[in-house]
Amino acid sequence: MKISFRIIVSLLFVAALASLGFSLFQARSDEKRLTSDLEKRAVVLADSLQGSVEQMIESGSLKRLHMFVKRFNRRGNLDGIAILNSSGETINSSPEVSKYLDKVRPEIIKSLSENQTVSDFVSVNGRKKYIYAIQTGQGNGINFGSLGLFYDTPFIDTILKETLFDNLIRFLILSLLIIFTTVLVVRWSITGPIAQLAGWLKELRVGKIKQPPSISGRADVLGVLADEIGDLVKALSISRAVEDERAMLRMKTESTWTPERLKERMRRELGDKNLFVVSNREPYMHMKKGRKTECTVPAGGLVTALDPVLRACGGVWVAQGSGDADRETSDERGRLKVPPDEQSYTLRRVWLSKQEEQGFYYGFSNEGIWPLCHITHTRPTFRLDDWIEYQKVNERFARTLFEEIEGEDSPLVLIQDYHFALLPLLVKKERPDAHVGIFWHIPWPNPEVFGICPWREEILIGLLGADLIGFHTQFHCNNFLETVDRFLESKIDWERFSAERRGHVSFVKPFPISVAPWPGRGDGRPAPSKEDIFRELDISARYLGVGVDRIDYTKGIIERFKAIERFFEKQPEFIGQFTFVELGAPSRTLIKQYLDLVSGIEETVQKINWRFSQGKNWKPIVFLKDHHTHETINSYYRAADLCMVTSLHDGMNLVAKEFVASQEGGSGVLILSQFTGASRELHDAIIVNPYDIEEMAGAVHLALSMEPSEKAARMKRLGEVVKERNVYYWAANLISSVARLRIQPER
Ligand code: G6P
Repeated sequence: MKISFRIIVSLLFVAALASLGFSLFQARSDEKRLTSDLEKRAVVLADSLQGSVEQMIESGSLKRLHMFVKRFNRRGNLDGIAILNSSGETINSSPEVSKYLDKVRPEIIKSLSENQTVSDFVSVNGRKKYIYAIQTGQGNGINFGSLGLFYDTPFIDTILKETLFDNLIRFLILSLLIIFTTVLVVRWSITGPIAQLAGWLKELRVGKIKQPPSISGRADVLGVLADEIGDLVKALSISRAVEDERAMLRMKTESTWTPERLKERMRRELGDKNLFVVSNREPYMHMKKGRKTECTVPAGGLVTALDPVLRACGGVWVAQGSGDADRETSDERGRLKVPPDEQSYTLRRVWLSKQEEQGFYYGFSNEGIWPLCHITHTRPTFRLDDWIEYQKVNERFARTLFEEIEGEDSPLVLIQDYHFALLPLLVKKERPDAHVGIFWHIPWPNPEVFGICPWREEILIGLLGADLIGFHTQFHCNNFLETVDRFLESKIDWERFSAERRGHVSFVKPFPISVAPWPGRGDGRPAPSKEDIFRELDISARYLGVGVDRIDYTKGIIERFKAIERFFEKQPEFIGQFTFVELGAPSRTLIKQYLDLVSGIEETVQKINWRFSQGKNWKPIVFLKDHHTHETINSYYRAADLCMVTSLHDGMNLVAKEFVASQEGGSGVLILSQFTGASRELHDAIIVNPYDIEEMAGAVHLALSMEPSEKAARMKRLGEVVKERNVYYWAANLISSVARLRIQPER
């Protein structure tokens, strides 16, 4: 109220001064105008009377003169007239004038002796009179001196008073309006929003983070302030979420998550319901090898992570059948039980035509969304034909899934990755009762980067069909919500990290994916030693470094080799001592960038090997380009002195975690890119910037010369992290979160 009072008083003071000034000015002009009117009238009347009076005096008709003068008694404002002789004595005067003529006579005589005319106001008994007198002639023995007209003029004061009174009333009305408007404006634009902001900040302080009150548009300055505070709160919520994420990561689980514990949790969450997983890549692929059929596990983090989960929980995994012996190893509907030796869940294969695979998988998914989401300076390519196939294949998978979930009440559907951005909405439309989660295994870029996709709105709308959208890190969640906020009409809740569109709420949460713990893997036989491996490779060296990747431009493989080259330049004592083996699985080879990358890598390896090889059976780098089995990879992990993960950008990178898991009791060193999601958890790795070749070369040297005790201590801490937050822990969190969401009926 104080501020309103101050504004009102100031405004009233200024308005009062202005009104007073204007009123005085108006009164003065009115007075001037009225006086001048009166004078004009007096002049005209005096002129017209002068002749008649002179005539009557000259003709000596004093009686007529008397009658004449009497006739002018009290006509309107005119009190009357008086005729004086040159000595100032009265010849004749109207009765009203006679009453006070003596009082003004000296004034008339004095003025007439100085001037020809008198035009003046005098006060008679407190009333204001106007006198107009002119000199006139003599005749017929009568000494005639002057003719005077006498007006009663209080009306001038009355009019002036009325003017002032009117102005006073106007001022009062104006004041009321000022008070009313000020109170209203101040409440609406200042005190109201401030009170709202204050209430909101108070709630913030006590930890109840709410959406900022919507006051923009009501008060420009406060609107800006509210927006700023809104951003601040957003930043606050984000850092709280990041802290929660860290706390969650720090949190020691009561006991290590195992397949049994996950199974038990799933039984509690799902009862006897099945879990339905959809991904493009299948977990088991049947390939013809001569006359035999081989079952292989495709390379890639998604399969590495999800297969142990499905093994533990059972369920149905819908995926593309892409092996050349896939059809003959499944039934007529494309179903088979996997893994071949355990048969713990069902794989439902979807068959795609070459055209569908080209547009959906190679085109839109891997030439469009993949480079779009990975910041590795590879331009995404968006083609309409690919987009059409992408939509068609998403619908194909939806139809296959509907067959699988038919008859299931409120099925739990877990969709995997960027190949199926449209699937959540397709599923929700057909089965609003389903609990739908999608896990995005790759990074989510900021809105500017994502905004270049011609079908960005469609992709976002498709994803928002899910009840829960998972990413590896809080950072990617923030990017996603900001992207939705930028491009779609929706309500973002930065407290709960959700987006609401058309009545449907999608929660957005981080779930850092992981791997299965080491015990329980393999067939129990001892893994080959480093010496066995070198012997097999026909290499004579002391130290072994390993890299395991799908051959992908996001993995920083060439950068890694350049760092190794630089390491040998800087530390020539390791020439002949250290060999780096790259287990590279060819990937997406129908895409030109991937093909070019393979030849680029081969060329780099050849150059480095040529430069440092000394004719003995030693090479700096061995590049094994093949689809390696888990057993082979694991034996390399366990034998290696160091493992290099140098991705230029990576959602998580499970090679890093697999290497750590394999080191149970061992002391290999992990060199890890800071641009992987894994680097947020694996702090005891040697963290590097893969664009900084010098730093990476230094990291190789550091790893090889590190004290065994430090290596062991670092690996122990890393091992604890990976063991505690293993993939069962990830799955339990993700699946429970999706299962526990209250599914709102669609509006
Ligand atoms: C990444 C993706 C997965 C994909 C894997 C292998 O990890 O996030 O969705 O399965 O790469 O790639 P590919 O194209 O062979 O399936």
